[in-house]
Amino acid sequence: MSLPARVKIYEVGPRDGLQNEKAIVPTATKIELIERLANAGLEYIEASSFVSPKWVPQMGDAAEVFAGLKPKEGVTYSALVPNDRGMDGAVAAGVEEIAVFAAASESFSQKNINCSIEESFERFAPVIQRANNQGMFVRGYVSCVAGCPYEGAIDESAVVKVAAKLFDMGCYEISLGDTIGVGTPEQIKSLVKAVKAHDVPIEKIALHCHDTYGQALANIYAGLQEGVTVIDSAVGGLGGCPYAKGASGNVATEDVLYMLNGLGIETGADINAIVDTAWFISDYLGIKPHSKVACVGRTD
Ligand code: HMG
Ligand code: MG
Repeated sequence: MSLPARVKIYEVGPRDGLQNEKAIVPTATKIELIERLANAGLEYIEASSFVSPKWVPQMGDAAEVFAGLKPKEGVTYSALVPNDRGMDGAVAAGVEEIAVFAAASESFSQKNINCSIEESFERFAPVIQRANNQGMFVRGYVSCVAGCPYEGAIDESAVVKVAAKLFDMGCYEISLGDTIGVGTPEQIKSLVKAVKAHDVPIEKIALHCHDTYGQALANIYAGLQEGVTVIDSAVGGLGGCPYAKGASGNVATEDVLYMLNGLGIETGADINAIVDTAWFISDYLGIKPHSKVACVGRTD
């Protein structure tokens, strides 16, 4: 199959990245980060989570982040919502797009959201219904698609079941998360094929790769070959997952852009502005960006 002409980048750094930083980043710095990402041409930015601040204190200012963001034409700011309580917060904050997050592993589901996979569907059902009733888009995540930090290997059939269920429940896009970055290209290809074969159209499938074992770009390329056109990434390769021991950062947005630019695939994003933003947030955190491209520097 030929590679797609255009790819949608779903930027998760402000949420999936910062949720895993020990330091609590001030709201104003988060807002500046998000607005820099939007000004760099990214059209989908996951800005925060309406989860319990006892579980993830780093996202405790979700309402303030949304209150401070200036709307920008063509840009969607989204948030994770785990339950009805989170949905109340998202609605009050005027969020346009939310994401529910399930897992393909029972143990991960318990550790991450304190319920079984089946119970998570029961919690998501009213959330998705409320969102659909008021014209909010809902994305669905499946975590641990290539392996689980607690259970090891995860059956492809478990991933397919959760992905198909979230799609049937009304999610417009299903993001397949290799939460601990253990997948390899043929495995990812097979997974995408299997999800596609279970009635999730290819244009509704996103890949969410972590780079723990250095496989993220190879996995994304494998996904592109299968027809995937939505890629999740985090500026500066920020992140991990607080409930997935050993999960290193998400694949870096600038590394993905370097590959896509080289392949002649359009994204609308400016790689140099993303490199600057990777340094902006990394300098704030007192770390070096976890990405090859940012460490080389601007490409102009
Ligand atoms: P729980 O303790 O089972 O829930 O948590 P509960 O309903 O029993 O409530 C307990 C307390 O939390 C109560 O407060 C609730 O009011 C409060 P208390 O009476 O003790 O004062 N509460 C809330 N507060 C604020 N917002 C809410 C909310 N809900 C309940 N929405 C819950 C269940 C889901 C809330 C909890 O487990 C949680 O917040 N988990 C967060 C998990 C999380 O954010 N994980 C990281 C994101 S997932 C991820 O990173 C993977 C992904 O990126 C894909 C990939 O990388 O592969 C998506
Ligand atoms: Mg992630």
